[in-house]
Amino acid sequence: MRKVLFYTLFAVMFIGFTGVGSANEFWAKWPAGKAKGPMPPCGVNVIALGGDDILQATVDIYCGVNPGNYKSYIHPKAYATYKVKGGKYPEGMLGVLVFKKIDAVFTTEIKNGKPIYDVLQISTGKSIAASDAGHPLNPKTCEKCHASFEGVCKGYACGNRF
Ligand code: HEC
Repeated sequence: MRKVLFYTLFAVMFIGFTGVGSANEFWAKWPAGKAKGPMPPCGVNVIALGGDDILQATVDIYCGVNPGNYKSYIHPKAYATYKVKGGKYPEGMLGVLVFKKIDAVFTTEIKNGKPIYDVLQISTGKSIAASDAGHPLNPKTCEKCHASFEGVCKGYACGNRF
């Protein structure tokens, strides 16, 4: 009986521990995407460091929130398309861009062939997308960038453009 109690306690603790911070990390087992790195401070010229125009624009928009390092993960079903830089992703989640330091994740999802952008708070799983025009976390801001820059992003995925 003591043993059972011990194991039960242990299991509860274990679930408790692994649950912290990871409960909403639905991408935990997805393959990593190419997009990753530190978000440089405002004013840094990333083109001089080998970056391109779209990366410079991204840094200029998001440096202000000082979001730290970012990593991307691609949904397993979307990965084959990502690898060949395909233009047509399957319906459902395409990928995520994770900013651990600021507890936020950018998500791109394909619905009826169109991209849906969102920003979730990792710890709560809730959307923190903004609705003010021009706001960095407004899905329209995401859309504008991902679909411009002379189409360097294929099928709305940007990390695999090189
Ligand atoms: C000014 C341009 C720009 C804006 C605005 C922007 N992104 Fe991106 N996004 C990029 C670039 C560039 C990358 C790849 C970064 C790299 O190569 O390191 C990227 C990567 C991503 C990825 C990883 C998957 C992929 O496409 O490779 C997701 C998911 C994503 N963005 C979603 C969003 C969401 C959601 C928003 C709005 C809240 C947003 N993005 C706003 C340019 C932008």
